Amino acid sequence: MASPVRTTAEKVQSMWNGNKLSANANMFLLLFLFSWLSSATASVSYDHRAIIIDGQKRILISGSIHYPRSTPEMWPDLIQKAKDGGLDVIQTYVFWNGHEPSPGKYYFEDRYDLVKFIKLVQKAGLYVHLRIGPYVCAEWNFGGFPAWLKYVPGIEFRTDNEPFKAAMKTFTEKIVGMMKAERLFQTQGGPIILSQIENEYGPVEWTIGAPGKAYTNWTAQMALGLDTGVPWVMCKQEDAPDPIIDTCNGFYCENFTPNKKYKPKMWTEVWTGWYTEFGGAVPTRPAQDLAFSVARFIQNGGSFANYYMYHGGTNFDRTSGLFVATSYDYDAPLDEYGLPREPKWSHLKYLHKAIKLAEAALVATDPAVTSLGKSQEAHVFNSSSGCAAFLANYDTKYSSRVSFGNRQYKLPPWSISILPDCKTEVLNTGRVGQSPPVDMTPVNTTLSWQSYIEDAASSTDDNTVTLDGLYEQINITRDATDYLWYMTDITIGPNEEFLKNGSYPLLTIDSAGHALHVFINGQLSGTVYARLASPKLRFNDTVKLRAGINKLALLSIAVGLPNVGVHFETWNAGVLGPVTLKGLNSGTWDMSRWKWTYKTGMKGEALSLHTVKGSSSVEWVEGPLLAQKQPLTWYKSIFHAPPGNAPLALDMASMGKGQVWINGQSIGRHWPGYIAHGSCGNCSYAGTYTENKCRTNCGQPSQRWYHVPQSWLNQSENLLVAFEEWGGDPTKISLVARSYENLGQTLYNIEGGSNHLRLQL
Ligand SMILES: *[C@@H]1O[C@H](CO)[C@@H](O)[C@H](O)[C@H]1NC(C)=O
Ligand SMILES: *[C@@H]1O[C@H](CO)[C@@H](O)[C@H](O)[C@H]1NC(C)=O
Ligand SMILES: *[C@@H]1O[C@H](CO)[C@@H](O)[C@H](O)[C@H]1NC(C)=O
Ligand SMILES: *[C@@H]1O[C@H](CO)[C@@H](O)[C@H](O)[C@H]1NC(C)=O
Ligand SMILES: *[C@@H]1O[C@H](CO)[C@@H](O)[C@H](O)[C@H]1NC(C)=O
Ligand SMILES: *[C@@H]1O[C@H](CO)[C@@H](O)[C@H](O)[C@H]1NC(C)=O
Ligand SMILES: *[C@@H]1O[C@H](CO)[C@@H](O)[C@H](O)[C@H]1NC(C)=O
Ligand SMILES: *[C@@H]1O[C@H](CO)[C@@H](O)[C@H](O)[C@H]1NC(C)=O
Repeated sequence: MASPVRTTAEKVQSMWNGNKLSANANMFLLLFLFSWLSSATASVSYDHRAIIIDGQKRILISGSIHYPRSTPEMWPDLIQKAKDGGLDVIQTYVFWNGHEPSPGKYYFEDRYDLVKFIKLVQKAGLYVHLRIGPYVCAEWNFGGFPAWLKYVPGIEFRTDNEPFKAAMKTFTEKIVGMMKAERLFQTQGGPIILSQIENEYGPVEWTIGAPGKAYTNWTAQMALGLDTGVPWVMCKQEDAPDPIIDTCNGFYCENFTPNKKYKPKMWTEVWTGWYTEFGGAVPTRPAQDLAFSVARFIQNGGSFANYYMYHGGTNFDRTSGLFVATSYDYDAPLDEYGLPREPKWSHLKYLHKAIKLAEAALVATDPAVTSLGKSQEAHVFNSSSGCAAFLANYDTKYSSRVSFGNRQYKLPPWSISILPDCKTEVLNTGRVGQSPPVDMTPVNTTLSWQSYIEDAASSTDDNTVTLDGLYEQINITRDATDYLWYMTDITIGPNEEFLKNGSYPLLTIDSAGHALHVFINGQLSGTVYARLASPKLRFNDTVKLRAGINKLALLSIAVGLPNVGVHFETWNAGVLGPVTLKGLNSGTWDMSRWKWTYKTGMKGEALSLHTVKGSSSVEWVEGPLLAQKQPLTWYKSIFHAPPGNAPLALDMASMGKGQVWINGQSIGRHWPGYIAHGSCGNCSYAGTYTENKCRTNCGQPSQRWYHVPQSWLNQSENLLVAFEEWGGDPTKISLVARSYENLGQTLYNIEGGSNHLRLQL
C-alpha cells in the first residue's frame, strides 16, 4: 500500500492535532480496501521482520476479545473501541465446549456465533487472528474441552493418543471448514490473517517427553494439511515445526527469539493484567509498565503484539475455569463492561499512533543498538525507508537525560521515548494522563424479594442412585451442574458413651474439592471451601448425632473444572474420602466403603426456578417470612429496567455463594463471601512486573459486582433469581450502574521532550 507522500514531521504534527489524522487514515483505508477487494493478490506470508499482507510488511497491533465473554449486542461497540484504540487485529480463541456441548451436536448461536463475530470485525475493517486450539486454557472451564471428552474410552488429553487426536482433528476441521465456507480467510477476501493450533504446549512437551514431541509434530501436520492459505502460529512452543511460527506469551517478551531466522518475532499474549480467582486479591498492571513492555518489544525487532486481554469481559454461566472469578476483567484497556479503562486505554492508543508513525522505518530493517548511558540505549531503524528511534531508560529509580543526534531527551525511569523521525519525541511510555476514577452508582430500581428454601436432599428423593463407596463427582454429574449430593445414614446405638457424657463424635471428610456443605438431619453443620492453589479440602468437626438413624447429606460443589496442568483431565472433584467418625464406643468408623446415595443437582435446578415458567412451580414467601441467612435458598425479584444505557451490575456484597440469573440467562457464579486474602501494596510501575505485584481488594470480596448485560433486560417484568448456597441477606442486593460520565475527559499531560502538549481525548 502506498501512502501519500508526506514527511514524518508533517505526520507527527497531524497526529498530535487529533482528528486530522483521520483524513489520512481514510485514504489509507480506501487503498487498503481496494487491495483487499482485488483478492487475486490476496496473500499472507512472513519474513524475518514481519507478517506480510498483500505484499506489505506490517507492524500489527492486536487485542484479544473472546466472543462468549460478552453479548452479541456488545460486539460492535467493543470492536469499534478496539479500532479507535489503534488496533489492527482482533484475536480470539475458539471455545470447543461452547460449540459442541454434546458429541456431534453443534451450537453456534447467540454468544457462540463465531461467524457473526468475525464478520463484525471484518465490517469494522480489522483483521482476525483465530486461535482454534482447540485447547485454549483461557481460565475457561476445562480449558475449552467439553466435559464429555474425558469419557471417550481410552482418551488422554494433549498427547500422542489416537482417540484424542481423532476428536481434536474433527473439531479443528469443523472450524476451518466453517471459516472457508463463509470465505473468512484473508486469501478468500476475509479478515483472518493468522490461525493458531494448540496453545502453550511447550511446557507440557518438556514434561512428558517423546509422546509430546510426536503429538506436536502430528498437530502441526494436521493443521498445515487444512490448507487455510494463512500462516499458523504455535505459542510457547520453541520447537514449532516449519513453517509454523513459534510465538511468545508473557508480561515481557523483548528477549524472545523465534526458532528460525526467517520467522518474525511475535507476541501472542501481552498480559494486560491478570485474572482474579475467588478468594484472591484483584491484579492490576500499570499502564506505564504495559506500554513500556510493548515499546521495548517493538524496539527489539518485534512486529506483532496482541494484548491479552484487550477486553476480558465476563465468565457468564458456568464457563469459568477452576476457582476463576465470574469477572474476567483482567485490568484490560476495555473494562469488563466494555468501557475504556483510563488512563490505560488512551495511553496505549497514543503508543499505537506513535508506533504506526514509525511503521515504514521499522519494517524496513533491523535496529542498530547504541548505548546512551549505563542503563540507557537507543534502538535506531534507519534505512532508505526512513529513520525511527526508540530511546530507552531501564533504570527503575532514576530518570535520565540522554543525548541523541545533537538533542537532549529526558527519560523517566523504566520508560521509552519514540521518535518516529529520529528527532521528534511523540511519546514517552512513562508519562501517562490522569483520569477520574470510574465508580459504581446505585440506580433507582427497588428490588423486592421472595424466597423459597430448598430442603437438603434425602435418599428417598427421585433420581437418586445408591452405590458402594465414594465416587468422583464429575463422573456422576458430567458437569451438568456444580452440585452433587452424597448421602448416607449413620445409626447410633442407645448405649454410645458420647450420648451420656456431653461430647459429640468427630466427623472427618476428605474431598478432592472444591466446596462442601455438611448437613446432619437437614441442618447445616458446617461449610468448607478450598482455593485454586490447593483445591482439596477437609471437613473435620464434631457433629450433633442423636440415638437412632441420622441422615448425613454432603453437598459437594464444583467451582469450575481445571483449565491448565499436565493431564488436568485426571484431576478429581468431590468426596473421595476417607470419611471417618471418631469418638464412638467401638473406636473409629471408616464410612468410605459404606453405601452412599447420590443425587445430581439441586431441586430448584430440576424445576428451572430461574425461568418464568419454572419459578411458578413452588410456593414463594415474602415480607416477614422472607428467608435470610438460610442455606439452600432461592430468591426472586421482578423489577423494571432502570432508565439509560449505562452498563449495569448487581452488588452482591451481602450474599455468600451461589448463582444468579436474569430472565433465565445465567450471569454466573456469585461468591462475594470469599474475602480476598494475600497482600495488596503500593504499586510502582517501574521494575519488572509479576502477577502478584499490583493487587487490590485485600479484605474485600474478590468479586462484589456482577455484570448484567443491558440486552438481557426488558423494560419491565424482569425476573431476577439467585440461588444462595450458604446464607445471605438479599434485601441488601442492589442494581448499580457503571458510571462513565467522566469518560472522554481524560487529561493527557505530556511533558518533557520537545512536546509540551495538553490534549483532551
Ligand atoms: C512428523 O509427522 C509427519 C506426518 O505425520 C511424518 O511424516 C514425519 O516423519 C514426522 N516427523 C517427525 C520428526 O516425527
Ligand atoms: C540515518 O542514515 C542516514 C544515511 O546514512 C544518516 O545520514 C543519518 O545520520 C542516520 N541517522 C541516524 C539517527 O542514525
Ligand atoms: C425512582 O423511581 C420511582 C418509580 O419509578 C419514582 O417515583 C421516583 O421519583 C424515582 N426517584 C428518583 C430519585 O429518580
Ligand atoms: C464412573 O462411575 C461409574 C458408575 O456410575 C463407575 O462404574 C466408573 O468406574 C466410574 N469411573 C471413574 C473413572 O471413576
Ligand atoms: C481434627 O480435629 C481434631 C479436634 O480438633 C484434631 O485433634 C485433629 O488433629 C484434626 N484432624 C485433622 C486430620 O485435621
Ligand atoms: C465421651 O465418650 C467418648 C466415647 O467413649 C470418648 O471418646 C470421649 O472422650 C468422652 N468425652 C468426655 C468429655 O469424657
Ligand atoms: C422479554 O421480552 C422478550 C421480547 O418481548 C420476551 O420474549 C421475553 O419473554 C421477555 N422476558 C421476560 C422475562 O419477560
Ligand atoms: C505509592 O507510591 C507513590 C510513589 O512513591 C506515591 O506517590 C503514592 O502516594 C503511594 N500510594 C499509596 C497508596 O501509598
